[in-house]
Amino acid sequence: MRDVNIGIVGLGNIGSGTLKILAENADQIALKLGFHLRVGAVCDLLIDSKQIPESLGPVFKTNDWRRLIEHPGLDIVVELVGGTTVAAEVVNAAIAAKKSVVTANKELMALSGPEIWERAIQAGTNVAMEASVAGGIPIHTVLREGISGDRVVALYGILNGTSNYILTEMEQHGSPLETVLAEAQRLGYAEANPSNDIDGFDARSKLAILSALAFGEKITPGDIFTEGIRRLSPMDFQYAHRLGHTIRLLCAARQTPEGLILSVRPALIPQTAILASVRSSYNAIWVRGTYGEDTFYYGRGAGPRPTGVAVVSDLMRVAREILSGSPTRVSPFAHQRLGQYKPIPVTLQTRSYYVRFRVRDQPGIIAALSGILAAKHIGIEAVLQLPHENKLDLPFVITLEPTTEESVRQAAAEMSQLDFLLEPPLVLPMEPPL
Ligand code: HSE
Repeated sequence: MRDVNIGIVGLGNIGSGTLKILAENADQIALKLGFHLRVGAVCDLLIDSKQIPESLGPVFKTNDWRRLIEHPGLDIVVELVGGTTVAAEVVNAAIAAKKSVVTANKELMALSGPEIWERAIQAGTNVAMEASVAGGIPIHTVLREGISGDRVVALYGILNGTSNYILTEMEQHGSPLETVLAEAQRLGYAEANPSNDIDGFDARSKLAILSALAFGEKITPGDIFTEGIRRLSPMDFQYAHRLGHTIRLLCAARQTPEGLILSVRPALIPQTAILASVRSSYNAIWVRGTYGEDTFYYGRGAGPRPTGVAVVSDLMRVAREILSGSPTRVSPFAHQRLGQYKPIPVTLQTRSYYVRFRVRDQPGIIAALSGILAAKHIGIEAVLQLPHENKLDLPFVITLEPTTEESVRQAAAEMSQLDFLLEPPLVLPMEPPL
């Protein structure tokens, strides 16, 4: 059988990890495939500073991705540039040149993956994107093939390692978010601009992709209610623990009788839930199917080696499909074509809620707050106040009986007008046992 030739665009962390695995693990890969994967060409803006393992043999090197795509004999182009500008040009040009594409690009695939797949169908090529979500966890393969016979009703994930690291450090050491973030940046775990991670945008792209796979609808990031972790403080963990819960940046996609609800937001989850045991920068995904019931997937969400494994495994699958010569390819979205159904607003969901206040102490606070809640027919489940010295900045928590998010938001907006409040109440959903 002939070799399959690949070209890699972008030799950053993931690109270098991918090359290393292709070089060091070449024998295993060839034994599994029955043929060789050859790296024919590599491209990077700083190509002269990149180490290309010698065991790969002669490799065409360029700093111009167009020259890589024109390079004769390539079957697959690997896009590891990231972002949605040059990366989109690379992917579209590769498909136009009848190359298959392997990508790790969550942003691009969340935004325009279905259109890219449509172009690939027309061109008779393939697209694979396992590395785009939760690097080391083969969750695409699971949804696309492993449990594709099931009907998914809910998917919950911890999909951003940086936020999970920050939250679990706050939980364990009682340090404020700013301190943990600064330390994470010093150690190189968090980006200099942490917004994508801590404001939930990175997780949102990942949830858009996974919910498209799970539910067969074209979900884009704008369809997902998103809230980051900036407002959380160590005291929220103390209160959550008192309630038998912890807090995670939870990506949730649920089929309800009213429709599909999608969100990325900090949420209280019971300490007994399997997702509560996901700590540090690990990722995890919990899926409930109608027939197969619950399955759980855990591993590293990022890093050159785990993500490199995902890229190489995609290359192996696409290479097999190329050599089999079959015109039928499994869609990267698990559905040959995605529907156009849009999720319903998260405000329609019914949940218990955790509401944390910071107030300047004075008589009548609970009366004022409970008056607002009673007027909206929202029941109070518990009022908690841990010992605290500073009466000028006094925290306490009210938990609410199940109610719609719409009512809770209205109540929180009214409460925000009260002059004893130092900041708007922090409202977090309390998820049932997962
Ligand atoms: N920044 C991401 C995270 C890794 O912290 O999980 C890449 O997706």
